[in-house]
Amino acid sequence: MNILKSILLLAALLPGLALAETAIPLDHAPIDLANKASLQRGAHTFVNYCLSCHSAEYMRYSRLEDLGLTEDQIKKNLLFTRNKVGDTMTVAMRPGDAKKWFGNPPPDLSVITKALGPNFVYTYLRSFYRDPKRPTGWNNVVFPNVAMPNVLANLQGDQVAVFKTHVDMVDGKPEKEETFSHFELVKDGSMTPAQYNAMVGDLVNYLTWMSEPAKEQRLHTGVYVMVFLFIFFIIAYFLKKEFWKDVH
Ligand code: HEC
Repeated sequence: MNILKSILLLAALLPGLALAETAIPLDHAPIDLANKASLQRGAHTFVNYCLSCHSAEYMRYSRLEDLGLTEDQIKKNLLFTRNKVGDTMTVAMRPGDAKKWFGNPPPDLSVITKALGPNFVYTYLRSFYRDPKRPTGWNNVVFPNVAMPNVLANLQGDQVAVFKTHVDMVDGKPEKEETFSHFELVKDGSMTPAQYNAMVGDLVNYLTWMSEPAKEQRLHTGVYVMVFLFIFFIIAYFLKKEFWKDVH
């Protein structure tokens, strides 16, 4: 195989390697970066439910003005810590404490959808289930033995996971293997499952926007650049014709 082929193969495989295989197929996150209302709702959920443990060090509160919010609205509805509007989204908890309390420190969420993919985060936030064997009382189907509790449980309700047991013969010995089958809601939350899914969809939409707030603008600028190059090409073409018309 030549070098070019190997490089192409590696480039095709890398994204797959980065996103680890999960026990269930990932659901598709409803991402729509042009939907400002959805992004605003997502920002609200994020500062209310995630910033207490996670930070978003690359994100300034003032940047939320890009979502159509005024400075006053940001101050009143989204700023709960002692931070100012120009500050980044830091977290009150000290990293040492987080490690003590949870075993694993909560990672910064600025670019989490770039690291794990929006579909993973969307599925993860809907896949917590009750598990008395875990110190937090919670486990997760796509992130087994996760240190994070289901912080959205009062909205989602409590679900348990139902597993199917298979018996496989491994080297002539029967070996039990459990595969995930489905969730059962055992305690209602304040939202219906459809409302909960929509809320998580908005949240992941916001997280995706946050991982690259300038994306919309970049695409916009790209279109102008292409239009400019096209017009410039026509002008250059006729100029060339004009300059060369007497040369034979
Ligand atoms: C009570 C504290 C706490 C809150 C609140 C919290 N998390 Fe977490 N989160 C954690 C901890 C601890 C981990 C690390 C889990 C581990 O590594 O086992 C984590 C891990 C994660 C991960 C996986 C990161 C990875 O590297 O795989 C994501 C995604 C995540 N949290 C998103 C969120 C979102 C979105 C919210 C808001 C709805 C939220 N978290 C609220 C404590 C919290």
